[in-house]
Amino acid sequence: MRSCFREYYCKWHAKYIRTPNIGKLLTLLVKISGAKEILEIGALGGYSGICLVRGLQKEGHLTSLELKQEYAQLAHENLKKAGFGDRVTYYTGEALKSLDQLEMQQKKFDFIFIDADKENYPNYLDCSLRLANPGALIVGDNVLQRGQVYDFSHVDLRTENMRAFNHRMANDPNLESIILPVGQGLSIGRVKG
Ligand SMILES: C[S@@+](CC[C@H](N)C(=O)[O-])C[C@H]1O[C@@H](n2cnc3c(N)ncnc32)[C@H](O)[C@@H]1O
Repeated sequence: MRSCFREYYCKWHAKYIRTPNIGKLLTLLVKISGAKEILEIGALGGYSGICLVRGLQKEGHLTSLELKQEYAQLAHENLKKAGFGDRVTYYTGEALKSLDQLEMQQKKFDFIFIDADKENYPNYLDCSLRLANPGALIVGDNVLQRGQVYDFSHVDLRTENMRAFNHRMANDPNLESIILPVGQGLSIGRVKG
């Protein structure tokens, strides 16, 4: 009975909660890339934020965009608990507006993690390409959408836009990229330069 419950819980956790290997992978990617400035689009409770900052060198910084003030506050509290409270700046509101603001401030990033509303992934990719330093990594989460992206009988805006994002990541001449089938699919693109 006990092991039955554990098996059920593990399946539920793997399906609905971010699996630890994604977090570990994010930390490793940041470390391997040597990124100093990270941009995160979609903060929620700060889980990916903590994993990203863990990979940073001492002087590195995370800029995180979040629609909802209460999530940005929660994420910040969690980063504080992890000892990273002074390593992050939050922008709240529509990410596309914050991205315009960052462009106007001529900010540049070495690592961009896209994990907000799926409908806007192609727009986030356009902005990311403008904000990325040469050699930067652009990483998109949930790009396989539980298999919906390759089930062509599945048609909705969210899935169509995710297909467009994946197509662009694979074919943009400024990117070399791959999709890893971890979690719900992680797309990793390196900006040539
Ligand atoms: C999947 S969750 C992010 C999870 C987080 N990256 C992590 O791994 O811990 C998506 C987040 O994007 C935020 N979001 C949704 N639409 C957004 C928008 N238009 N602009 C900014 N953030 C948005 C949601 O409020 C939510 O917190």
